[in-house]
Amino acid sequence: MGRKGFIVTIDGPSGAGKSTVAKLLARSLGYRYIDTGAMYRGVAVAYMRNGGRTPLDRLLEDLALTFEFDDGVRVFLHCEDISGQIRDPEVSLTASTLSQDGRVRNYLLKRQREIGKEGGVVLEGRDTGSVVFPDAEVKFYIDADLNERARRRHKETTAAQELDRVREDMAKRDKNDSERDLAPLTVPEGAIRVDTTGIGVDEVVAILKSHVEKAKEKWKS
Ligand code: C5P
Repeated sequence: MGRKGFIVTIDGPSGAGKSTVAKLLARSLGYRYIDTGAMYRGVAVAYMRNGGRTPLDRLLEDLALTFEFDDGVRVFLHCEDISGQIRDPEVSLTASTLSQDGRVRNYLLKRQREIGKEGGVVLEGRDTGSVVFPDAEVKFYIDADLNERARRRHKETTAAQELDRVREDMAKRDKNDSERDLAPLTVPEGAIRVDTTGIGVDEVVAILKSHVEKAKEKWKS
């Protein structure tokens, strides 16, 4: 076990309910919630603002990107709070494109391992159980059917987007994320799969929590 507790990972496609569930699970375990997607989104905002003036390697080398993980996540670029902007639809697609680049992945991989190494964390993303912490004590893979995922994302988005457009963007990102060569979205070895289609948030959290509790009992004995 990590020094402050278990490392729990939750991976899956966008809109599967990972963030909500990960946040609530972390809260009920007294763990920190690490939203790794927000980290990719932070890099995307920096990249979009730079407008291609600086080569990517240099941009990453000098990147003044910081994160505050607590009950949610706050992202700062040069001390400016960009937590609102990271959720823009264009940022989602740019993050998905940039996440195919090994330099971006390595940059964030190091930062994610540094943040999570002490344990007592719930990490959520696409590769947290397959690449970032393959030895995590508990690994989940959460999914739901595309229509339901699009409906959920459409409900929570602040941008004026048609449901069909949300579904299209989502399918495009799923394809990017699953078919890329580096750290593709996949079910990590040993992960517990949970399909959240038609299941409420509280029920999903209860299912996940029971698995973590079981793992704790096993670890003690
Ligand atoms: O989870 P979220 O939708 O915020 O992630 C934004 C994008 O960042 C994803 O579409 C994916 O391309 C990328 N990502 C990733 N690996 C992670 C988390 C996110 O490649 N662990």
